[in-house]
Amino acid sequence: MSNPRPYDVVLYGASGFTGQQTVEYFANQVDEQVRWAIAGRNRQKLEQVKANCSATVDVLVADSQDQEGLDTIAERTQVILNTAGPFALYGNAMVDACVRKQTHYVDITGETPWVKSLIQRYHARAAADGTRIIPFCGFDSVPSDLGTYLLVRFIQRELGVSCLQVKAYFQAAGGFNGGTLASAINLMQSGQASQMADPFLLNPQKDPPSTVSPQSQDPQVPQYDKDVKAWTAPFFMGPVNTRVVRRSCALFDQWQESYGVHFAYQEYLKFNGPLASLSALGTTLATGLFGLALSQGWTRTLLQSRLPQPGSGPSTQVMDEGWFRCELMGQATNGQRVHGLIQNQGDPGNRSTVKFLCESALCLATQLEQLPGKNRGGVLTPATGLGDVLAERLRRAGTTIELAVSEG
Ligand SMILES: NC(=O)c1ccc[n+]([C@@H]2O[C@H](COP(=O)([O-])OP(=O)(O)OC[C@H]3O[C@@H](n4cnc5c(N)ncnc54)[C@H](OP(=O)(O)O)[C@@H]3O)[C@@H](O)[C@H]2O)c1
Repeated sequence: MSNPRPYDVVLYGASGFTGQQTVEYFANQVDEQVRWAIAGRNRQKLEQVKANCSATVDVLVADSQDQEGLDTIAERTQVILNTAGPFALYGNAMVDACVRKQTHYVDITGETPWVKSLIQRYHARAAADGTRIIPFCGFDSVPSDLGTYLLVRFIQRELGVSCLQVKAYFQAAGGFNGGTLASAINLMQSGQASQMADPFLLNPQKDPPSTVSPQSQDPQVPQYDKDVKAWTAPFFMGPVNTRVVRRSCALFDQWQESYGVHFAYQEYLKFNGPLASLSALGTTLATGLFGLALSQGWTRTLLQSRLPQPGSGPSTQVMDEGWFRCELMGQATNGQRVHGLIQNQGDPGNRSTVKFLCESALCLATQLEQLPGKNRGGVLTPATGLGDVLAERLRRAGTTIELAVSEG
């Protein structure tokens, strides 16, 4: 059957700091047969992005509040890749258009209360239509969500038993985007940040367990972890990533593809070296103080004026020299342990995020038939919507993804 939609992927928000990097990725790394266009609210900026890019692309224009304009964009493509954030401010009409026009969707939000609202409004309809709406396709939450999925399935396949628990340990270096800060500030200003305390915020309505197990409570203090023989601290992305992993777990339960009856997930920052305990303590205090400053009106205003503004981000050198390493430890019901590793060179919030997001969009645009769950739709997660196909694409794109049964 001929394809009536002129584009495979439209990159919306293409003039932003992350958006421009997605354009570069598509221009330099993506097969010529993929038909793509750039889009956003400002034609002049988009024409400049087009002029700077080595590919010939169409430019589509619609503001994030222009429902008719966004409908026209959504109905002309198989997939929308969205980097226009804060998503709670600029994402609603676009997701609405994608659901009504049955256009698959990926973004890089970490705004869990916003995604909760999407689940309430759109999950049922997108599920019925087989439209995949997949937020969290950046550094939050691909390593956590995809890593857990791969580890659990490895345990089930290789050891023939279920998984009791996965713990992830992050180490990372990189910079900070103005757009990310704007999203965090919007979360605080909108009064929605308190919702993030719910460990099962993104679970289907009927699903949340009546009691919160200790493994599902966000870590608050540095601690020595005997399993990895290292000091750990709370990871500031943990309250986002853990909710995404738990949504994957709950959705797989509904589809009889369970991770395990009492499956639990938690994640941490990990510290090595002689000063590890001090570093863990210092990081915990610094993260707490930063969160406190963001939550108070006057300190928030002060921070806002001193930190990177929307449209800006780290230097090329910082982005090239950044990196992340996510070690995963899975415990099987028979007592055996399985280790996983996901790592990528480059600033996690930019280089890795752009790679994860673009490859996620390409899964939907070019490998839809191979994705998990025939005709699966809804407000999904990277693991439930893209699964092994994304893992394979990321491996081919240079991300290390390894799994092994632990010795002894
Ligand atoms: N998951 C992750 O690891 C990760 C990493 C990085 C960023 N992010 C998230 O991604 C988002 C973007 O970050 P960024 O650093 O790229 O921010 P940015 O540089 O400020 O870009 C924001 C984009 O939104 C567009 N925009 C603003 N108002 C709009 C409107 N009314 N209608 C349509 N588009 C509008 C901007 O268009 P103009 O160019 O016309 O102003 C720009 O393209 C943020 O929410 C951030 O938190 C997530």
